[in-house]
Amino acid sequence: MPFENLKVEIVDRIATLTICREKALNALNSEILDELLAVLQDVKRNGQVGGVIVTGAGEKAFVAGADIAEMARFEPLQACEFSHRIQNTFGVIETLGKPVVAAINGFALGGGCELAMACHLRIACHTARLGQPEVKLGIIAGAGGTQRLARLVGKGHALEMLLTGEAISAEEAYRIGLVNRVVSPPELIPTCRAVLSEMLKNGPLALRYSIDAVHNGLEMSLEEGLFLESTLLGMCFATTDMKEGMSAFLEKRFAKFQGK
Ligand code: CAA
Repeated sequence: MPFENLKVEIVDRIATLTICREKALNALNSEILDELLAVLQDVKRNGQVGGVIVTGAGEKAFVAGADIAEMARFEPLQACEFSHRIQNTFGVIETLGKPVVAAINGFALGGGCELAMACHLRIACHTARLGQPEVKLGIIAGAGGTQRLARLVGKGHALEMLLTGEAISAEEAYRIGLVNRVVSPPELIPTCRAVLSEMLKNGPLALRYSIDAVHNGLEMSLEEGLFLESTLLGMCFATTDMKEGMSAFLEKRFAKFQGK
């Protein structure tokens, strides 16, 4: 299905989703959100896709936030609805059950930084800048920024970014744990592909349960999280992949996982 503002390419089990609205620095409007949700649901169901890269078109921006021209017209209830909608879409990324890497190729501001934070890993090129500038517009972050940022980098760094609204460099983002790696622009997509390819050598269900355990466990007490971990580990022992993985080790060969 062709999309107006989204390019989708699937190569070697990796789907690359490129947000293509360069004239507005890939700012997210309602139309893009609809397209993104449709693609994510498709990718979630598609057995040929093992992992996903999310990036922005061009060299300047990953995503420069939610579309300010659209938001400027919102009544309070519309703003609240929009926030729920963007949060739900980003929630689908976080719970996709397949690893998702944000390839941050430039500005990741407001909803752009929030989109990157909903991904499981963030790899930035050294020209990228990340920030939550909403306070400069007289509003607060509304796509998960007040929640995911503090969980990722801690309350102090999160409040500094949320209250100053200033963007930080990719190196600073790496220092505070907001991004996993910083690379040169030409290395960005190849690095994301290499990281995902390494992950995709492993059992798909083991990847999914690892994401589930970390994502859900973070919202639980340690005791509850440990219980969840044991339950998911037990479920792994009901899979063909577990038998294959352990047999392959004992027979000194590479495992051939089937995701079942
Ligand atoms: N929404 C709509 N249009 C945007 C946009 C956005 N978030 N960001 C950039 N654009 C548009 C600009 O209006 C401009 O359009 P025109 O050429 O038609 O004038 C075009 O993209 C290029 O942008 P600039 O001329 O501003 O480029 P620059 O190099 O001078 O500055 C920038 C780059 C620092 C990223 C600047 O564009 C900027 O500050 N953008 C806004 C960033 C922002 O505040 N994001 C948060 C949005 S709120 C949000 O996301 C809420 C939420 O959590 C749900």
